[in-house]
Amino acid sequence: MTVKELRQKFLEFFREHGHAIVPGAPLIPENNPTVLFTTAGMHPLVPYLEGEKHPEGARLASVQKCIRTTDIEEVGDASHLTFFEMLGNWSLGDYGKREAIEMSFEFLTSPEWLNIPIKKLAITVFEGDAEVSRDDESAEVWKKLGIPDHKISFMGRADNWWGPAGETGPCGPDTEMFYYVGEGDPSQKSNPKTDSAKWVEIWNDVFMLYDKRAEGKYAELIQKNIDTGMGLERTSAVLQGKASVYEIELFTPLLAQIERLCGYKYEERLKEFRIIADHARASAFILAEGVLPSNLDQGYVLRRLIRRAYRMGRQLGIEGPFLSRISEIVINQMRSDYPELQDNKSFIMSGISQEEEKFEKTLERGLREFGKMSTDGKLSGKDAFVLFSTYGFPYEMTEELAKEKGIEIAKAEFDKEFKEHQEISRKGAEAKFKGGLADSDEETKRLHTATHLLQAALRRVLGEHVEQKGSNITVDRLRFDFMHPDKLTEDEKIKVEYSVNSAIKADYPVTWEEIPTEEAKKQGALGFFGHKYGDMVKVYTIGKGDDIFSKEICGGPHVTHTGRLGHFKIIKEEAVSAGIRRIKAIFEK
Ligand code: ALA
Repeated sequence: MTVKELRQKFLEFFREHGHAIVPGAPLIPENNPTVLFTTAGMHPLVPYLEGEKHPEGARLASVQKCIRTTDIEEVGDASHLTFFEMLGNWSLGDYGKREAIEMSFEFLTSPEWLNIPIKKLAITVFEGDAEVSRDDESAEVWKKLGIPDHKISFMGRADNWWGPAGETGPCGPDTEMFYYVGEGDPSQKSNPKTDSAKWVEIWNDVFMLYDKRAEGKYAELIQKNIDTGMGLERTSAVLQGKASVYEIELFTPLLAQIERLCGYKYEERLKEFRIIADHARASAFILAEGVLPSNLDQGYVLRRLIRRAYRMGRQLGIEGPFLSRISEIVINQMRSDYPELQDNKSFIMSGISQEEEKFEKTLERGLREFGKMSTDGKLSGKDAFVLFSTYGFPYEMTEELAKEKGIEIAKAEFDKEFKEHQEISRKGAEAKFKGGLADSDEETKRLHTATHLLQAALRRVLGEHVEQKGSNITVDRLRFDFMHPDKLTEDEKIKVEYSVNSAIKADYPVTWEEIPTEEAKKQGALGFFGHKYGDMVKVYTIGKGDDIFSKEICGGPHVTHTGRLGHFKIIKEEAVSAGIRRIKAIFEK
């Protein structure tokens, strides 16, 4: 079964089971300050898992592009990826555990669907702890469906608890489905708990019953939800009998191109090939959303991905920038499902090449410094750290170089420096986090409403060509990207601020209704540029009667009156790329 077929089958199955198919969301989460990337299909659904009504109903399914950076060190083995696609189905207070498990089982094992033999499957279930009891109910449902006792293991929070996706939000115990990848048939004794190397997790059904709060407490969610996630690449790999995710058709053309560039065979250099292929995909998708390499947030992750791939290329003997040529294949191959890749093709390709060139310069400079520091055949830990922190020279490269030249590094001293540095930056991050945490939900809502006012104000002051290209809210500021060719003048900035602040003073009501997408467009509601919508959408209106300040398609949440916002102030206005400007703004205390 091809990847395309698996995507289609999944959606078809859940459509037949009464689910609305909803479009995936961007990789850069909108309005969630606690995470850098969308890491799961549930991510864009958080407000609905917390009880807001979803315009498409209470049964949903989607294909969601995801990035998980926690797995970055694992990339190179058989199953980990930073960028992947997740198939998911949701019950927003509709069906419960039994029905969710029954549907998973039917999709996996029915001859009409994936037709996986039961003997190839094993299940894990939450074993319970002081706070939440053991999930015997799920185990019973699996047994009734025909999963033998010895293939059902109970495990703790580390394995069978999911979420929240960031610091706070919906979470709960889960039951996970594993596929046997060992030789022959699994023995009675083999299961994911005792014999984990032979089992690959392919699907996870989460019972989202709790809401983790900022204080670290778990509150019961009023609405009991189901959230599931099936790894598209992993499931395709096991269904195709492939030993790793890198052997499915999404990766073979990438590997072939790397072979052409370096002369090695994939089998000879698995790790380097896999890292390059994975990072080429992740980089293309991050750039497609307008993020450029930088030292901050998503841009920093992107920088690390491109630089690591570049280093792997060097280890394979590839000279100079090459990664954009791998990413180009990703663009061509995925553009029908993800048109943002094609729309931003030249931006993606040049973003990658420019970062590779920058890195080359960094390496050259690092090499020079390295030479100066190690004239006596030794490199002190402090110097190795200066290479890393001041010159951005990766430690692995320092090590490599030292080995090549027979130079000894004071490793223990470097480790000590590095650890101290990490502690300082962690403390800084914690302090920053605590500072804004007091009432993060309310603060986020206020900034979100301000974003709508800002877009409306920009259109009044600059013209109707202004369209949202991206938005990101943390507890202490909003960031808004929009199309506009020129830098804003002081006068324009003052006018925009004045317009937003007048709308705040007017204390407009903020209301929403659910209407057909067509109707929303007819009413002139602004939508997120380039975003696909379902049949019904939620439209937020700020103002009333003849005095409508803003109308936007949006999932919420928002404050109820603009008077709740503080005094709006633009703190930065800058270019993101050609034709796209970025504003950062705060409420002045
Ligand atoms: N949110 C769950 C996961 O990502 C389904 O595994």
